[in-house]
Amino acid sequence: MKIHIASHPLLTHKLTVLRDEKTDSPTFRRLTEEIVTLLAYEAMREVKTIAVTVKTPVAMAQGEQLAKPKPVVVPILRAGLGMLEGMSRLIPTAEIGFLGMVRDEKTLKATTYANRLPEDLTNRQCYILDPMLATGGTLVSAIEFLAAKGATDITAICILAAPEGIAVLEKAFATSKLSLKLVTGALDERLNEKGYIIPGLGDAGDRLYGVV
Ligand code: URA
Repeated sequence: MKIHIASHPLLTHKLTVLRDEKTDSPTFRRLTEEIVTLLAYEAMREVKTIAVTVKTPVAMAQGEQLAKPKPVVVPILRAGLGMLEGMSRLIPTAEIGFLGMVRDEKTLKATTYANRLPEDLTNRQCYILDPMLATGGTLVSAIEFLAAKGATDITAICILAAPEGIAVLEKAFATSKLSLKLVTGALDERLNEKGYIIPGLGDAGDRLYGVV
């Protein structure tokens, strides 16, 4: 699995405000969108394109356009939904699928409760949106779900990641032929006993949707 920890002073600034417990939900949502747009820019470096020729007002120009079939963006409900706007801003033509996953707070295991995805993901570049890579359980299940539909090229975009979650992903797909990539805004220290990322930002879903 390729891991890319995006690093840019502007991103770090936005992440710092996002982490701050004093940041209210409307600001948290707006910053999440902005951060995701920056991460998506990195995540799509290897998006497939085709060579095209266009006519400018003065001459012919060689260029590139996104190849078909279109990439598929998959926010994991609930918190991944808060990342969709930032992603769509960068790639408005992507197809969007949904995956509803919930983790049991005791066992920390993830189960799928809803999905709305193309039946066949063969040859589709898939971009999973999940703000927090904590224990890794949700992301492993989501990747397996997409792979079972034929996806072989999967990038996870996470605002924050914990070393434990990365280790779980690496182990789960150690012998897999999938092309996997993780793009994250920061690698934090660790998980606490409740599976929260430290220092993290708390419960991303609650902070996005004003539950706290
Ligand atoms: N999910 C969250 O929203 N926050 C964490 O710190 C871990 C998982």
